[in-house]
Amino acid sequence: MEKETLKVGLLGLGTVGSGVMNILQMNGEQVRSRAGISIVVKKILVRDLKKERAVEVDPSLLTTDAAEILQDPEIDVIIELMGGLAVRQYVEEALRLKKFVITANKDLMATAGAPLLRLARDNGRNIYYEASVGGGIPLIRPLKHSLGANRILRLVGIINGTTNYILTRMDLENMEFADALAEAQARGFAEQDPGNDLEGIDAAYKLCILAGLAFNSQVHFDTVNVEGISNIKQRDILYARELGFTVKLLAIGEEKAEGLALRVHPALVPLTHPLAGVLYENNALYVEGNAVGEVMFYGPGAGAMPTGSSVVADLIDVARNINHQVENGIMETDFLDKKVVPLEELESAFYLRLLAADQPGVFAGLANAFSKEKVSLDMIIQKRSREGEAEIVLVTHPEKEKNFNAALTHIQKFSGIKAIKSVYRVIRK
Ligand code: NAP
Ligand code: HSE
Repeated sequence: MEKETLKVGLLGLGTVGSGVMNILQMNGEQVRSRAGISIVVKKILVRDLKKERAVEVDPSLLTTDAAEILQDPEIDVIIELMGGLAVRQYVEEALRLKKFVITANKDLMATAGAPLLRLARDNGRNIYYEASVGGGIPLIRPLKHSLGANRILRLVGIINGTTNYILTRMDLENMEFADALAEAQARGFAEQDPGNDLEGIDAAYKLCILAGLAFNSQVHFDTVNVEGISNIKQRDILYARELGFTVKLLAIGEEKAEGLALRVHPALVPLTHPLAGVLYENNALYVEGNAVGEVMFYGPGAGAMPTGSSVVADLIDVARNINHQVENGIMETDFLDKKVVPLEELESAFYLRLLAADQPGVFAGLANAFSKEKVSLDMIIQKRSREGEAEIVLVTHPEKEKNFNAALTHIQKFSGIKAIKSVYRVIRK
C-alpha cells in the first residue's frame, strides 16, 4: 500500500543539513509533487541543542540521542550528514532496520561503500550518495546510468572545492594561502579536518567512488597516489602563468591495458584547457568513454545549497522507490579487484624549479642529467641571477616517472645545483 507521508530522520544539521532543510522549505511543493508523497523530517540529530542554526527549524525536532531516530519505526529514510567514519555504525543499524540511507559522506562511501551497499542489498534497501562527490553536480547517476553503454577509459577532475577555491584566489587575486583557506572554511566548503582537503585525501576518497563506478571495480584508498597543495608556493603559480598554465589539484583515474592508474596531485594545466576555467569552489569532471567520446560535468562542488540539492534529489528518488514508481534495482559496480599500475610506470610531463650557482656548465649539467634518462625538455627559463644564484624553471616532455626521478637524483648530486624548490606534474589534455 502506498504511504501518504514519508518520514525522514536527519543526522546532522551543519552546512549540508541546513541546506537540505532550506531546500525542503523553499521547494517543498515541487519536491512533494516529484516524489509523489509528502516528506516530513521527523527528527534531527545534533551535538549541541543550543547552537544557532543557519536555517529555522522547530527546536522540538532536535535530539542528541541517535536511537530516537534510528529506532523509530515510522522513519523510513535516514539522511546522514554528520560526516566521518564513526557514523558507519548508524548507517549499518539503519540498513538492518530496513531504512533507506542517503549520505554525502565520501570518507565512508570510499572506505566502506562495498560492504555497506551489500548490507543494503541484503536488507532490500539502498544507499544513495550523489552528494558525496561534486556537491551539486550530478556525477554518480550519470556514471551509473547515462554512461552505462560505455567502457570508461579515463576520468580527470577537479573534485575538491576548498583547494580549487584556494588556488583560484592565490592565482587571480594574489591572496595568501592561509587567508584563502580561512575564507573557504567560513563559507562551509572545508571538511571538519581541512587537512583532508589540503592533503588531497578528500579528492582521493571521491576518486575511489568515481573510479569504482567508472571501472567497475573496488578501488582501495591506499592504491591512490595522493599529493596535496599545502606546499604550493605563490612563486610557482606566477611562473606557471608566465609559461601559459594554471595550477589545479587534479584527480585522475585511467583504465590502461596494464591496470588502473589512480592519482590525486597538483598539476600545471594549460590556460586553454577547459579545466583551467573551473574557478573558486566549482568542480568539473571529464569523462572519456569509448562510445560517447569526451563529456564534461561542471558546477558548484561544495556548499550548503548545491550539496543539499543533490541530497534532496536522492530523497525524491527514495520516495518514488518506496512508492514503487521506480525500481530499486540501481546498478552498482561489481566491485571487481583490478591490478593497479605503480606511479613510477606512468608517464608525466614535469615542471621543475631550482636554484643553481650562476656559473658556467650549469645548463650543460642539467641537459646531461635529463638526456642520460631520456627525458626531453619542452621549455626552460632562467631568471636574472641574484648574489651568484640563478633561478631556473623548466618543463619536460612526458616520460615515465621513474626516468624523471632518476634524472632528479643526478641533478641533486650535481654541485652547480643549490636547491630543488618545486616539482609538479604538467598535463596537456
Ligand atoms: P558540518 O557543518 O560540520 O555538520 C555536521 C553536523 O553533524 C552538525 O550539525 C553536528 O552537530 C552534527 N554532528 C557531528 N557529529 C555528531 C555527533 N557525534 N553526534 C550528533 N551530531 C553530530 O558538516 P557538513 O559540512 O555539513 O558536512 C556533512 C557531510 O557532508 C560530511 O560527510 C561532508 O564530507 C559532506 N559534504 C560536505 C560538503 C560541504 O560543502 N560542506 C559538500 C559535500 C559533502 P552540531 O551542529 O550540533 O555540532
Ligand atoms: N570539503 C569538500 C570540498 C566538500 O571542498 O570539496 C565537498 O565535498
